[in-house]
Amino acid sequence: MKKLFLALSLIAGSITASAQWGRPVDYSAGQGLKDAYKGYFTIGVAVNKFNVSDPAQVAIIKKQYNSVTAENAWKPGEIHPKEGVWNFGLADSIANFCRENGIKMRGHCLCWHSQFADWMFVDKKGKPVKKEVFYERLREHIHTVVNRYKDVVYAWDVVNEAMADDGRPFEFVNGKMVKASPYRQSRHFKLCGDEFIAKAFEFAREADPDGLLFYNDYSCVDNGKRERIYDMVKKMKDAGVPIDGIGMQGHYNIYFPDEDQLEKAINRFSEIVKHIHITELDLRTNTESGGQLMFSRGEAKPQPAYMQTLQEDQYARLFKVFRKHKDVIDNVTFWNLSDKDSWLGVNNHPLPFDENFKAKRSLQIIRDFDEALDNYQPKEDFVPNPCNQPGQEYPMVNSEGYARFRVEAPDAKSVIVSLGLGGRGGTVLRKDKDGVWVGTTDGPMDPGFHYYHLTIDGGVFNDPGTHNYFGSCRWESGIEIPAPDQDFYAERTNIPHGNMQKVLFYSKSLGKMQEATVYLPYGYGKVVKGKQERYPVLYLQHGWGENETSWPVQGKAGLIMDNLIADGKIKPFIIVMAYGLTNDFKFGSIGRFTAEEFEKVLIDELIPHIDANFLTKADKWNRAMAGLSMGGMTTKLITLRRPEVFGYWGLLSGGQYAPEEIKDPKCVKYIFEGCGDKENPEGINKSVKSLQDAGFNAEGLVSEGTAHEFLTWRRCLYKMAQKLFK
Ligand code: XIL
Repeated sequence: MKKLFLALSLIAGSITASAQWGRPVDYSAGQGLKDAYKGYFTIGVAVNKFNVSDPAQVAIIKKQYNSVTAENAWKPGEIHPKEGVWNFGLADSIANFCRENGIKMRGHCLCWHSQFADWMFVDKKGKPVKKEVFYERLREHIHTVVNRYKDVVYAWDVVNEAMADDGRPFEFVNGKMVKASPYRQSRHFKLCGDEFIAKAFEFAREADPDGLLFYNDYSCVDNGKRERIYDMVKKMKDAGVPIDGIGMQGHYNIYFPDEDQLEKAINRFSEIVKHIHITELDLRTNTESGGQLMFSRGEAKPQPAYMQTLQEDQYARLFKVFRKHKDVIDNVTFWNLSDKDSWLGVNNHPLPFDENFKAKRSLQIIRDFDEALDNYQPKEDFVPNPCNQPGQEYPMVNSEGYARFRVEAPDAKSVIVSLGLGGRGGTVLRKDKDGVWVGTTDGPMDPGFHYYHLTIDGGVFNDPGTHNYFGSCRWESGIEIPAPDQDFYAERTNIPHGNMQKVLFYSKSLGKMQEATVYLPYGYGKVVKGKQERYPVLYLQHGWGENETSWPVQGKAGLIMDNLIADGKIKPFIIVMAYGLTNDFKFGSIGRFTAEEFEKVLIDELIPHIDANFLTKADKWNRAMAGLSMGGMTTKLITLRRPEVFGYWGLLSGGQYAPEEIKDPKCVKYIFEGCGDKENPEGINKSVKSLQDAGFNAEGLVSEGTAHEFLTWRRCLYKMAQKLFK
């Protein structure tokens, strides 16, 4: 549907389409992240020296973030590489940037096994020092850094990554295999045991009585590591060590963690600390997380679309959890400004800004969350979708328009349903406890019919749960969301129904057989007073990607007619729905679409065939042409060129007529134009008004709550049919 939508919105002049049409979209337009999250937590970014000196990058920082971390410049090994040697240059420039711009900093980091001032462990001769000497050096280091920057710092990562990772039940210590310690076997730990952690926090508190002091680590969502961190911090706090908060680094990926794992850690840590910061958030596109790294550097390659969707969805899910825990989470910091800066390498595409510092859709998705949906649970009155195959329970829809999916694909890594809330690229399913992929749309879908498909590990498939419908140039899955006015296309048991006939005819101009579907109203062919009645004909065109089955099946054209006739709202007429040769057009060439081939087929071949084989009234005032989307474009081109053939014209989300385009005002008795209110309603209203002002019998419809989809066109047909042939 998306492709159809974009082609057609072009015609309808919709703005939304441009994003998907490949024209540049500015996802950073609107407020900054920091403003969107004002009532929640501060939003931070880790920076390098280029980020704070290049004006374009500075502009991004100032707009989006209200917390900054120096990515490397403040680390002990960088700022204090040798005894008595201090590299304050870069560290100061980042601090001064923040001071000048009124941005507060997270001080990262005072004590870490990596990028550390390893000279602290040895004397001038290279011999190991006693722990007292180490503590003296560490204290001087911490005091110097903290005193220099505490005016601009609100939180310090005092100790970084002191705990052991999961998955190592045993380890070698002094050449022996022993039960693994909960602590990382760092030089710090080997020299001091866990006392170095307590000391570092004490030194930091001495130097800065006001700043928040954090223990910071990765893989906090892993069951084992979460508990090791919890035990350590609890033990320290019980002993009076001044730990204020836990930093959960957040080096995650597009598949992991899920909301439960994340919440478990947040809940656990909030038992013992009042402050949690997500200190180093990035989402790589491989399956790794935390400390085991496979970098994806080198020349930037585009990220496959389905991975983008997975990443956007993962960001959306994680931030939803963060927002839910805003009482304890007071900062979320992205680790790096852009994919270009990322320590993971540009081909992990981990951040909301790309390698050219352009905002990605992830930024918009993180920013434009819907607070109302955050706390809303859909009603549990889901029933099987009316389009389902016999005996299939899923997909389901509820009374509010939410759709729920269930897909069995035991070995798949990801399953995405192409249906979902605006712009998000669909609904990402997750495996339930039985290993089955399940998920519900984030919000209610527009009422009416939607095409959709599944993307499983990047490959496109139909959902075996539903019937298939021809759209996007292939048979796609379909789902039907209940509409408030659905009675007008309901299959009523107590009225007579017309017939659909499949017509095959030879097209000389194309040199091949062509197909059309013909709706014959109930009573067609009956002999009344020795005569068979003859009927007017509406030639009704489908849109791009569709064919002669689209109006009769998902368009419900026959049911709409049956109901109108049964209710006495119209006199019966025939509808001919032919394949309109729209699908060979490539998107780039839509501007050159002339409908000339189809004009020949329609006027020289199909209409004569219909008039010869059916009981038609074969004249202009008993012939109408209308079409949806690209079929509207076809209709406009052909009716303007051949006004002698059709007396009634209709464009359904398929452009507009301008009065000056119609040479003879008497050549058309009725013009209909319609679209969804999510398309280009002003365009329709203006055009209808200008036609009316010019004296045409014109009428419009703006369909409520719908976009470029079939409910819009069903409603258009319903309204337009009542005015034809009068
Ligand atoms: C990373 C930096 O981003 C890299 O530039 C550097 O080479 C290595 O360190 N956990 C941390 C951060 O606490 O300091 C690390 O930063 C990423 C993992």
